[in-house]
Amino acid sequence: MEKYAEQTQQEFEGWEEFFSKPVDEKVENFIRNQRIYDIIYAQQFDRSFLDYLCSLADSIRLLAKTKVGQSKLRHLLPHKRAMLYFVQPSTRTFLSFQNACHILGLSTSEIRGTSTSSEVKGESPEDTIRTFASYVDLIISRHPEAGFAEKTAWVLNQTEYPVPVLNGGSGPDQHPTQALLDIYTLEREFRTIGGLDGKKIAMVGDLKRGRTVRSLSYLMKNYQDVELVYVAPDVFRMKDDIKEFLNKHAIPYKETEDFESIMPEVDAIYMTRIQNEYAENPASEAETFPQFHLKTKHLSMIQTHCAILHPLPRRYEIDIRIDKDPRAAYWRQERCGMWIRAALIAYIFRVDGEIMDELS
Ligand code: CP
Repeated sequence: MEKYAEQTQQEFEGWEEFFSKPVDEKVENFIRNQRIYDIIYAQQFDRSFLDYLCSLADSIRLLAKTKVGQSKLRHLLPHKRAMLYFVQPSTRTFLSFQNACHILGLSTSEIRGTSTSSEVKGESPEDTIRTFASYVDLIISRHPEAGFAEKTAWVLNQTEYPVPVLNGGSGPDQHPTQALLDIYTLEREFRTIGGLDGKKIAMVGDLKRGRTVRSLSYLMKNYQDVELVYVAPDVFRMKDDIKEFLNKHAIPYKETEDFESIMPEVDAIYMTRIQNEYAENPASEAETFPQFHLKTKHLSMIQTHCAILHPLPRRYEIDIRIDKDPRAAYWRQERCGMWIRAALIAYIFRVDGEIMDELS
């Protein structure tokens, strides 16, 4: 359906001032009763939170292996409802959040495009989100605009009926729950070799517009002796704000366009696709950058324990024949997404203690 009204966007007093503050000064606005309430930025997570959430996800996973355990999980939050507002395309984030909700007993509603909501009549996205809060206990959003989740959480927190907002991807800036599942995957892949501490990780592809590599880079401040290698064509190099963050937190990193040269030295390779949905004219970006693809010939060049990750969706940047190699972790990675998101929802609604007690 065509939009037949212009959006009637109005200014929110105080928003610009809030938005311009450094993230460190803003995170406290998204905490309630000593717990994270809204999940907006990867910078909200510290090591103890990350370790706890991974352990909670393991517990949920274990409980879900039996019918009795599944029933216990489903009876934790049957009185809660979640809204999935996904107005930018998604397969994994949408489905893993939806199924995470169902594992814990929450019922879900969804809007998957602005053409089927009253935004088509000119309602603003902020009023749309506020409307959801009238009906549900949790809002999970995916939006093409940077800062969208932050703004909606900020708006809701000034109303008399706020509900938690989980950022399922906001434009090219942040995808904090993807970073959580990436950490969970890396910790699991390295479980027998000391976990993520001390590892060297290559991030490859469109690092300029990829929100997953940005959010994951922020989380590296929580791990000891981690090194990063950014492998990207010159036009898609990692932005300076992330490099400044790494410098501030003394996280060593290097940049290169020579993918093959760093293959033998890294413990994980995090592949990404070219994010040309953010190009002004996507059709103009026909270059596929084959020198930044992982090919079968590379399998003999990487370490025997090297974990290959990709947030997916994939195009051509990983040869599908690599899927059969035990080091290909990306299908395990997308399954990790459902468990860590279930852990996050259990944490937000404070039923994590019941889950942990069940297995103690
Ligand atoms: N990784 C990820 O965000 O995938 P989707 O776009 O399919 O949700």
